[in-house]
Amino acid sequence: MTRRFENRVAVVIGGGSGMGRAICHRLAAEGAYVHVADVNGGAAKAVTEEILGHGDAAQAEEVDATSLADLMGAFIANIPLGRAAKPEEIASVVAFLASDDAAMVTGVAIPVDGGMVAK
Ligand SMILES: NC(=O)c1ccc[n+]([C@@H]2O[C@H](COP(=O)([O-])OP(=O)(O)OC[C@H]3O[C@@H](n4cnc5c(N)ncnc54)[C@H](O)[C@@H]3O)[C@@H](O)[C@H]2O)c1
Repeated sequence: MTRRFENRVAVVIGGGSGMGRAICHRLAAEGAYVHVADVNGGAAKAVTEEILGHGDAAQAEEVDATSLADLMGAFIANIPLGRAAKPEEIASVVAFLASDDAAMVTGVAIPVDGGMVAK
């Protein structure tokens, strides 16, 4: 199996059973750090332990996908700087890239993600 998802983070809602569980296993086996998110926290934990037992990376999240607060909480909890970006913080990087200060910057992506990629 390839490791094409190395250094990537996946969040699988409903990852505690059935198709979601299979997706968690597959993405983890291919190198992703998988957040196993499920309304059934015990199921999320069990799948996470299976993945860790295979030597892959995962963490369990008890999340109700019908709750925006739960979804945002799970998302923000995984940002190393502990919060989502403000729109102005995205705009300032866009302005930098469009400016002469970035004259030699080309063909690269700059993550503005509070450290998610660096994690
Ligand atoms: N289109 C098709 O051919 C097809 C085939 C099979 C299943 N399905 C459908 O796909 C879905 C998944 O099937 P499955 O077999 O993997 O089901 P499953 O019951 O094994 O897994 C669903 C998971 O989602 C979790 N979940 C439920 N509500 C949630 C919520 N609000 N927030 C977070 N997690 C929640 C459950 O706890 C469970 O772990 C079902 O709706 C099923 O009917 C479709």
